Amino acid sequence: MRNFASFADDKTDSGKMSNTIQSVRGMNDCLPDAADAWQAFEAIVRDWLRRYGYREIRTPILEHTGLFKRAIGEVTDIVEKEMYTFVDELNGESLTLRPEGTASSVRAVIQHNLLYDGGKRLWYTGPMFRHERPQKGRYRQFHQVGVEALGFAGPDVDAELIVMCADLWRALGIAPTLQLNTLGDHAARQRHRARLIAHYEAHRDALDADAQRRLHSNPLRILDSKNPAMQAINDAAPRLMDELEDEALAHFDAVQQRLRASGIAYEINPRLVRGLDYYNRTVFEWVTDQLGAQGTVCAGGRYDGLIAQLGGKPAPAAGFAMGVERLLALVEAAGRPLEQAAPDVYVVHAGAAAETYAWQVAAALRGAGLAAILHCGGGGFKAQMKKADASRARHAVIIGDEEAAAQQVTLKPLRGTGEQTRVELALAIDYLNNATI
Ligand code: HAM
Repeated sequence: MRNFASFADDKTDSGKMSNTIQSVRGMNDCLPDAADAWQAFEAIVRDWLRRYGYREIRTPILEHTGLFKRAIGEVTDIVEKEMYTFVDELNGESLTLRPEGTASSVRAVIQHNLLYDGGKRLWYTGPMFRHERPQKGRYRQFHQVGVEALGFAGPDVDAELIVMCADLWRALGIAPTLQLNTLGDHAARQRHRARLIAHYEAHRDALDADAQRRLHSNPLRILDSKNPAMQAINDAAPRLMDELEDEALAHFDAVQQRLRASGIAYEINPRLVRGLDYYNRTVFEWVTDQLGAQGTVCAGGRYDGLIAQLGGKPAPAAGFAMGVERLLALVEAAGRPLEQAAPDVYVVHAGAAAETYAWQVAAALRGAGLAAILHCGGGGFKAQMKKADASRARHAVIIGDEEAAAQQVTLKPLRGTGEQTRVELALAIDYLNNATI
């Protein structure tokens, strides 16, 4: 099977191993076999988004650094250590390669006043950049498909976002599991934060360096620690659930009710806090154990405060983003490769008259909507037929002097059974457009 999820992955640190220049570490080439699978995936995704009424937004890959600092939070892994930030030497501005798409989407929505006539359902796709330690499923340039529903306050849209993910997983033949939590509203989180600080202060000597540093700036993130030495202190930490107001709890219940009604299985994970600061209320992650350490294929939640925080008229919002590399790896692990694109026809020809006619035939085939590769580079029929086979085309169209003189083509099936036949071009086109092999 073609390995379409992994790339021509460069393991060198600086690309200076030999005198050939390599790609930047953690940034991968997507070669044609992989690109075929990406295109098949993108076609499924575009159709899925269209059916849910989401419309595409395209924002620049570079933004002012301050956007991400304000949106994602100063004391987060992304902003503290993972952003590709540089000074534009021409004007001294600090710019950052986007590490995610929510901040840019919200910036654009505010800048262009997109919510003036009510809520908007938006999506985007493209490369994101994080200076993380590369490993399987974790890259420095990776790709997301992101969905943002802006201007909707109710639990219905939270549930819709989750249900639509489940729908896509079915279409892709994969089955990640859903983890769900609620972070409540601002006041509850402030109370929880104060209690957490008190708890960690009481255990100050046992905290690791990361936790010490985050104690006052972002104690919630300490809960997320992967350090086994922090496990016991974290297990005993005050729970946000105990601080939540009735309204936030009712919202969470209403989301769950809709998920149950839609037959979506989920697990409530009170430890799910997310690595970006803008979330409130519902948060969720779709996870799998089939990809090793990087098992989160899609994640998101509600972020009602972000639009106002970035200077817009207050409006609620929720969304998610999926990692394309991880999803494709999961599709591959499920043994359901996405269909590879193959040409319909490979046109072989020998002789000057045949070549002139072959050009016309190839143009007519393409004009009729068929994918036709015209053999280039000369050679005899035998060598050309080898190329035709290797091209994975369904049929060869063979043109010699006889065909050229008669203005006909010889059609030879390259896959499955079937006889080679000489027919009028129009008939061949008709046949090829209806052929199933
Ligand atoms: P995130 O959890 O940072 O959320 O990223 C979403 C997904 O992107 C992850 O679950 C993962 O599949 C993929 N991903 C993240 N980092 C990498 C990496 N270094 N290599 C490969 N894949 C990666 C966000 O970005 C939010 N903007 C999601 C969101 C949208 N929330 C509301 N709206």
